[in-house]
Amino acid sequence: MNKPNVYVTRSIPEPGLKLISESTNMVLHEGDLPPSRQELLSNTKDVDGILCMLTDKIDDELIANAKNLKVISSLSVGYDHIDIAAATKRGIYVSHTPDVLTDSVADLVFGLILSTARRIVESDQLIRNKKWTLPWSPTFMLGSEVYGKTLGILGLGRIGKEVALRASGFKMNLLYYDIVRLPESVEKELSVTYVDVNTLFKESDFLSIHLSLNKNTINFVDSDKLSMMKKSSILINTSRGPVVNESDLVDALKSKRIRSAGLDVFSTEPLNLDNPLISLSDIVLMPHLSSATLETRSKMSELAANNLLLVLQGKKPITIVNPDVVNSVS
Ligand code: GLV
Repeated sequence: MNKPNVYVTRSIPEPGLKLISESTNMVLHEGDLPPSRQELLSNTKDVDGILCMLTDKIDDELIANAKNLKVISSLSVGYDHIDIAAATKRGIYVSHTPDVLTDSVADLVFGLILSTARRIVESDQLIRNKKWTLPWSPTFMLGSEVYGKTLGILGLGRIGKEVALRASGFKMNLLYYDIVRLPESVEKELSVTYVDVNTLFKESDFLSIHLSLNKNTINFVDSDKLSMMKKSSILINTSRGPVVNESDLVDALKSKRIRSAGLDVFSTEPLNLDNPLISLSDIVLMPHLSSATLETRSKMSELAANNLLLVLQGKKPITIVNPDVVNSVS
């Protein structure tokens, strides 16, 4: 039997690459840069499966062009880069890598909470810039407490729940808002209180965003919502940049409407060098690394490979995005 043809859009950690190369004719786009649009279109034209990254735009044009395509397996939990409706209507499975990255993202949320509240990055820079000239001083570089504060979780899905579990170790008061309220038993288990969205913005000392990006969540956090926040509050975003209106956020930070922000995601990635966020020294910026541990990326690689291979063997992927596709396949 002929092996299926597969295009992998980037070098990924070993477990996945090995699995795919053993049982398919794999074309691998090597290196760290994404393939150009032209490369993406021409390399996917005749393949049975694509293993893609969140930086690859898998739109209607690409999907229509890939006549043999059966599966789009993304090495990411987010799938806003894929036209799901276009894939579903053509009977193409879409899969992603949830669960395996939940803990590492939730850990990093606390990295950002602590580094903004306690000014860890700022004080590291102060020392390296040779500006630590005072001996210990009772008023030097004061930050704000984390324990006992109110953490607002916007979107209580897989990652939001793990953030809640970690927050109870910091004795935080937990509020959440989501479009669907969780059963009371789950709220109790996580010690979270459901509030409306305005209350969440008004009462949180830290507000951590865990929304997926779609037409309802783009620019969800805008000047109206930011203006409701406490002046002492800190915004954390590890979800997707466009969920926050970035210029409204810059205004809120510059005018000290809110105290700080810990951001792992941006409207444009990599950040343009003239992005005003870069000039704000009291916020913490990370280059989209919330799942970036060797352990997690290896698990993502293995899951993405297994999802891809299962469909090519006529089965369903483990973590499917578009279960409705089954109707268009059968
Ligand atoms: C990362 O942002 C992901 O979606 O996996």
